[in-house]
Formats: sequence, C-alpha cells, structure tokens
Amino acid sequence: MAIQWFPGHMHLTKKAISERIKNIDVVIELLDARLPGSSANPMLAELTAGKPSLKVLNKQDLADPTRTAQWLAHYNSQPGTRALGLDASVTTPAKALVPACFELAPNRGGMVKPMRVLICGIPNVGKSTLINTLTGKRATKTGDEAGITKLEQRISLADDFYLYDTPGLLWPRIIVAKSGYNLAASGAIGRNAFNEEEVALALLDYLKTHYAALVETRFKLDAVASLTDEELLEAIGRKRGALQGGKRVNLQKAAEIVIYDFRAAAFGRITLETPEEFAEWLAAGQKLDAQRQIKKDAIELDRAIRFKKIPRPPRPENS
Ligand code: G4P
Repeated sequence: MAIQWFPGHMHLTKKAISERIKNIDVVIELLDARLPGSSANPMLAELTAGKPSLKVLNKQDLADPTRTAQWLAHYNSQPGTRALGLDASVTTPAKALVPACFELAPNRGGMVKPMRVLICGIPNVGKSTLINTLTGKRATKTGDEAGITKLEQRISLADDFYLYDTPGLLWPRIIVAKSGYNLAASGAIGRNAFNEEEVALALLDYLKTHYAALVETRFKLDAVASLTDEELLEAIGRKRGALQGGKRVNLQKAAEIVIYDFRAAAFGRITLETPEEFAEWLAAGQKLDAQRQIKKDAIELDRAIRFKKIPRPPRPENS
C-alpha cells in the first residue's frame, strides 16, 4: 500500500527532536501494544541512536497479553533498553515510568543533574492521554495538527525529573507493506490516506489465521480460515446487513465494520504481529527497498548519460 506523505509540521518535529536530543538522558518511545514493531518509528531510532530507551507498550488493554509478554521480553533483552506495558486505566503511570528511567540512567537525579526525558510516539498512540494522567490535568495536545505551533512542552514530574513532550511523528516512507496496513487498522494514519477495503482484507487475512475463533464468535460464522479474504469480508457484510441494491454486499461498509470492531477490541484482545514476524517483514521490506533503489539509480545514471553526455562506465569483464 502506498502511503507517502510528510507534512511540514512533521519536518519541524524532526528538527525539534534532533536539537533536543543532545541534552536528553532517556527516550521514552510509546508503542502501540497491538503492533509494537510497526508503530516503532525508524526515523526516531536514527534521531535518538545511542540514547537509553524505554519502550512503553501502550494500550495493552487492547492487545493479546501473551504477545505483549513476548514483545516485552524481546525489548528487555536489548542493551540500553527497558520495556513495560501500560494503558489508560493505570492511574499512577509515573510509579512505573520514573524508576525505569533511573534504571536506564542511574547517574542522573538531584537538582544539579535532573533526569531529562524525551517522550515520543506516532499519532494516536495515547501520548496526550498518558501526559494528562501524569500531570493530573488536561494538557493541550502537542501540535499534531497544522496550526498548533507549540512544538515542545516541558513537564516537571518532580523537582529533578523533566519530561519533554513532542508531537506525534510518522515517517515519510513505510517500506514494510504489512506495517502500513497495521498502522492504518490501528488508527495511526488519517482516513483519507488509505483504502479501507484493502486494509480490512489485510486485517482479515491475519485474523483468520491467528485469531479465527474470535472472528467466528464475533460474526457468528464457521470455518473462517477456509474462506478467502474476499469471501470473509463478504460474509461479514452479509451478516451485518451491509447491503446495497440487488442485495449485493457493500464492501466499503463491511470494511468499515471490520476496522471499527478491531479498534474497539470488539473481537477481543488482538496483537497483529510477533517479534519474529515483524523481523521477517522488515527484512523483506528492506530487501525490496534496496532493489528499488538499485533500479532507480540505474535509471538516473542512464538519464544522465543520455542527456548530460556523461561517459558510460566501462562494463565489467566477462559480462
Ligand atoms: P495521541 O496523543 O498519541 O495522539 O493519542 P491520544 O491520547 O489522543 O489517544 C488517542 C485515542 O486512544 C483516544 O481515543 C484515547 O482515548 C485512546 N487511548 C489512549 N490511551 C488508551 C489506552 O491505554 N487504551 C485504550 N483502549 N485507548 C486509549 P479517541 O476515541 O480518539 O478519543 P476519546 O474520545 O476516547 O478521547
């Protein structure tokens, strides 16, 4: 799925993060527990490389607890990284976040060397909700939308603990196709930037393989794993009365139902990827992207040779 855009305010956010990062002790990355790998921003990894990292698997109330445990173990085994699960029902999140930050940067603390933490995450991951709970008030959303100019907020959680908030940040090119679908299904990507039917089919493809019983219970269907994705979407549309003239299924409406139900956890608690699956998708996406780049470079070189008359490089021998 081609999701490609990078609005101006995202450029500003990127710049703000790269300036702030120099004086930061720990980076908290809020991930969506339903899609931890896909909701991790590769651009953020680049911007914050080398900084101790606290991965917070947020919205754990919506995710499959067994898989959340797998993801936590995966991140906790990485050097300079700690991970914990969280959701909006936790009324005192600082009790978990603050000690985890001090564990990651034990030399910080006290008025002379206060702990300076940057909190980042993709849009809709629940960052404003978490910050509101941490501060005990309704803070304004940190500039996810054009027109909100405040790029960064500093929040004091204690005299020696500063939290720097950043606007929700997506990256310009999603090279893992499945991540694009999972991000769209989760609500991280604006409605107009994806095709609902395509996303619902990808979602059903995963659900019928890994969570067939939940789909069957939700829609009162049998043997969903034996249906094609298209047949399953149609069966769901029929069950839910998403019909149009001539009793044909309105696939757009059926797709909206599937996505809505997933977001509301109406199927039950679901996680769309395991660490192993995501590692495979990422490797395949990177390979494909590298091949694309080689082709693009070859086309550009050919153009340069033809129009700018650059001498063609000698062919390797035996070719
Ligand atoms: P953001 O700042 O990262 O963009 O996210 P925000 O806090 O605005 O949260 C996005 C949506 O996710 C909100 O729902 C919010 O209520 C919901 N949310 C946040 N944290 C959790 C959580 O831990 N679990 C669950 N289940 N939901 C969470 P919304 O429908 O967009 O808005 P609202 O009407 O609920 O406020």
